[in-house]
Amino acid sequence: MTRKRHHPPLKCRHCAQKAVINMRQHKLALCSTHFVEWVHKQTERFIGKYKMFTRDERVLVAVSGGKDSLALWDILLALGYQADGLYIGLGIVGCADYDHLDYSGESHQFVQDFVDYHAAQGRDLTLHVVDVAETYGASIPVAAQVTNRGREKPCSLCGLSKRHIMNRVARDHGYDVLATGHNLDDEAAVLFGNTMQWAVEYLARQGPVLPPSHPGLARKVKPLFRFYEREMAAYAIVRGIAYIYEECPYASGATTTRYKELLNEMEIGSPGVKTQFYLRFLQARENYGLFATARETLMLNTCPTCGQPTTLDGVCSFCQTWARINTRLAKCSPAD
Ligand code: AMP
Ligand code: FES
Ligand code: ZN
Ligand code: ZN
Repeated sequence: MTRKRHHPPLKCRHCAQKAVINMRQHKLALCSTHFVEWVHKQTERFIGKYKMFTRDERVLVAVSGGKDSLALWDILLALGYQADGLYIGLGIVGCADYDHLDYSGESHQFVQDFVDYHAAQGRDLTLHVVDVAETYGASIPVAAQVTNRGREKPCSLCGLSKRHIMNRVARDHGYDVLATGHNLDDEAAVLFGNTMQWAVEYLARQGPVLPPSHPGLARKVKPLFRFYEREMAAYAIVRGIAYIYEECPYASGATTTRYKELLNEMEIGSPGVKTQFYLRFLQARENYGLFATARETLMLNTCPTCGQPTTLDGVCSFCQTWARINTRLAKCSPAD
């Protein structure tokens, strides 16, 4: 008969309380109070170290209803930054596990619950909401169906549209900075993908801070890029932030998900490899000027229709794609 070994519960490094998280890559176990304190301190440190923004600047946080972006909004408010929210209603129905869920509707509800919670505490938050179907004529899945006849997933149209809308709202409302909830797992997986493809143009630009390429555009920052996904999940739980657990129905099977799994497998044997992979890339790029030519030769023009930057010569992909979608929708509308 094998006897089970009982490990005593891990204690917080700073007090006698039971630890709620053990971060092997930092050799650090913390109780809920000290974990929240640690997350706040670390975020403050990274915002300063990478020169993301100051307390005088207005930050627009893109909130999806997921754990990372809601945690980010919570952290920035707790640290005393001027942070407003932006939710983009994509009109996505279903989720990775079942198709009865109103994925976008539920996501919006979690964001609204966060705002309502703060209102009940006497703090009015500003939340901008852009509904893609109302604003541009069709939801993301319908638009994708119309434009590529369902041959491809709607993810690239979705990404293109989200980027455009985030830039537009930040510019229209005079925000200095646009912050997204990307964590280290996201960034390392994207870097893995870009490296596998030797996608030089992306490798030249991927980073925690992207300066604006055009006047009037906001600086783009990822203040959570040094935290692991599990740390942000723990943070949301400890802080009592309710968020959508389900994934977008189109995310399952995505290569980024596979890269995340691979990196996590490596992380088991060597805690910290994910961070090293990403941070050493940033260091090597800076110290040795890697991909500098790609960055310098990247010509950004201005779209004559929307005024946003584009690598194309004339009208940008967003404006071209949505013009095509609306032409096709008009052709098949019942009024004809
Ligand atoms: P994703 O591209 O879904 O991995 O999301 C990355 C980040 O983009 C999130 O952490 C949010 O900051 C932002 N984001 C994603 N979806 C939305 C949305 N529907 N509305 C606003 N921001 C979003
Ligand atoms: Fe955009 Fe899934 S969130 S396609
Ligand atoms: Zn403690
Ligand atoms: Zn345009």
